[in-house]
Formats: sequence, C-alpha cells, structure tokens
Amino acid sequence: MLNWDDPTAASATPAPKAEPVAPVPATLPEEAAVTNEDFAAAAATSPAPANTTAVNTGLEQIEMGADRIRVDDKRMINCHSDLNQLVPFKYDWAWQKYLDACANHWMPQEVNMTADIALWKDPNGLTDDERLMIKRNLGFFSTADSLVANNLVLAVYKHITNPECRQYLLRQAFEEAIHTHAYQYVIESLGLDEGEIFNMYREVPAVAKKAEWALPFTQHLADPNFQTGTPENDQKLLRELIAFYVVFEGIFFYVGFTQILSMGRRNKMVGAAEQFQYILRDESMHMNFGIDVINQIKHENPHLWTSEFKQEMIDLIKDAVELEIQYARDTMPRGILGMNAGMFEEYLQYIANRRCSQVGLPEQYLGAKNPFPWMSEVLDLKKEKNFFETRVTEYQTGGALSWD
Ligand SMILES: [Fe+2]
Ligand SMILES: [Fe+2]
Repeated sequence: MLNWDDPTAASATPAPKAEPVAPVPATLPEEAAVTNEDFAAAAATSPAPANTTAVNTGLEQIEMGADRIRVDDKRMINCHSDLNQLVPFKYDWAWQKYLDACANHWMPQEVNMTADIALWKDPNGLTDDERLMIKRNLGFFSTADSLVANNLVLAVYKHITNPECRQYLLRQAFEEAIHTHAYQYVIESLGLDEGEIFNMYREVPAVAKKAEWALPFTQHLADPNFQTGTPENDQKLLRELIAFYVVFEGIFFYVGFTQILSMGRRNKMVGAAEQFQYILRDESMHMNFGIDVINQIKHENPHLWTSEFKQEMIDLIKDAVELEIQYARDTMPRGILGMNAGMFEEYLQYIANRRCSQVGLPEQYLGAKNPFPWMSEVLDLKKEKNFFETRVTEYQTGGALSWD
C-alpha cells in the first residue's frame, strides 16, 4: 500500500518544518524580517509582466538549437525556460506525488451501492436529519469538485511554470472529474432529484456560501489579462493557492467528510461512505501537494511573504473556519450520530491549526483538540479490504475497447 499524508493523524504533534520529500523548508528563516518595505522595493524593481522576458506557458515557438534545460533554470512560477521537457526533475516530491496518485486510481462504479439503495428506499431506514445531512453534502460536493477542477484548468495551471508540478495538476484535474462522477453516481443510485441536488449551491445558502467565498480568488487568475511576474500578481497567485488548497480542499471539505464517514462507521450508507473515503484520500494528497507548492513559491520568492500578507492569510483562514462552522450547523441543526455542531467547531479549529503550521503561520486556536480521532483511523485504507487487488480483476476499462 502506498504512503499518503494523513491530514489529521499528524496533528497531535506540531507539523514538521519541511515535508519529508520536499527539499524546501516550510518556513523561511528570514520570513519574520520580510516587511512591506521589502515588498515595495521588489515591486519597484520588478519588470512589467508583458515584456520580452515574458513567463513561459509551454506554447512558445520552438527554439531550435537552444541551450539544454538545466535544473537550476526551473522555477515554480515565472520560469523562462521550456516547459515541455519534464526532465531533469527539480521537484522530486511533485513527481513522486504524481506516481502515488496514479497508483491510487479508482473508479466510482467499482463501489457497491446496493445496501445504500435499500436503506434510502426504506421509509424507516434513515431519520429526516440524516437524509438532510446526506442531501446537503451531495449538494455541496457535487458542484464543489467541478469548481476545483475549473480552477485548476482555467486559473492555476497556466501560472505554475514547472512540468513535474503540471504533471500532478493534470492528474489532480482528472481526480476531480472522478470525484464529481462519484457524487453523480451516488445521486443517481439513490434516485435523488438531480435538479434539486445540483442546484443547491444556487438555492440553499448553506451550500452556496463556501463556493461564493472561493470564486473571487479564481476569477482574478482566470482573467486572460492576468500574468504573474510582478510582486502584486505573484501574491495574488499565492493567495489563490492558499484559498483553494489550504481552505477549500483543506478545511471546507472536512465537515462533510466527517459526517458521511461517521454514517459508514455506523453501518449506514456504506457505499457512499466508501466513495467518500477514497475521495478523502485523494483530497489529502491534493492539499499536501498544494502546500508544497505554496512553500516552494515562498522559498523562491521570500519578498512575497510579508508580515502584512501573513496576517491577511491568517484572517482568511479564520473567516473560513467560521463559514465551515456555520455549514456544520446548517447541515446538522440537531446532534446526530454522536456528533454536534460544537464538536465540529473544535475539530475545525484543530484542523486550522494544522493548516496554519503547514504553511508557516502561527496556530490560532490554542489547545484545540481533535474530537474525532477515528477520522485518522478511517483514513487508513490498510485496514480495509484490499481494494486494489480486487480492482484488477473487476476493472472494466479495457472491456470498452473494440477493434472490430
Ligand atoms: Fe475532489
Ligand atoms: Fe481536490
């Protein structure tokens, strides 16, 4: 079984200063000394983005006979060398995450939904509160993963100027498609009103708020006139990566994941819970990849990580925690399954502490504990059936090919 980073298990102890496979420290020794004056000085000497040394996209004319790529030429953002050559690797951790993600491949149809269908159709199978919670989570996630995929493809990808990271981004984009597929598969299996579920993010405020919070960040970057290469714009990219990887995938998913996985623990909606378990494993890798990228950008561009910017990121994370606490209340007006909104408040504070320390910010909620230690265990697929062995014989993709 492959290694993947458990987002909660490591939280009991302070996060390491560096990812084990990342060559870059998570926090910079000099970061406390970076001030707005440093940022202003960098801005004053920075070239305009649209000039002869424009950042490469990978679609430039081929330069015949140009010098071969050297590792030292490669940069996470604002790279001026050819982006179509994967090697030599600079960020081995990114390539390793790509390999791990591919080895974790799964498809939603491989999960048996029979028990869920019977339980959902049984009028006494679930309480009204449980049904509300399931439907609201399907409403949130069924559109949230499309938003994340669109953000990757239309906003982030162009501005990350490193081939091995782009390789992971392409894999991540496909995984987001699989996640949307999984939610659709659950919705279809249960015979839910698809119009009701997919429109929740436009009709149910509790579901809409988180997408509304995230959209402005990606809209900035998706603007066709936006280019990195100035300190202001590089900070916009960094802010956007923190909003999506640290907050959206690293905080906004956790109430829903915990709620659905807790149903599985009680032998209810076991198929949906299994789908969510595989999705959570993927999301954990997405978030950890994003955090490595964020820390690498900080390392290569220390002038971006000013005390003002850090405070802004702290405020952003704290706002997100409040939004997610509200989501817990809205999806679970009364305590069910041994959980209540108060427990989620502490859980989110605990997660936010971990996220802060992962990107080199001080923890904001002193003493917050994990009220759901079982989340760490449920993430450990080694205790589950050997999914990947059974998958080999049942895998259907090859059967779709026809040479007639
Ligand atoms: Fe996803
Ligand atoms: Fe994701």
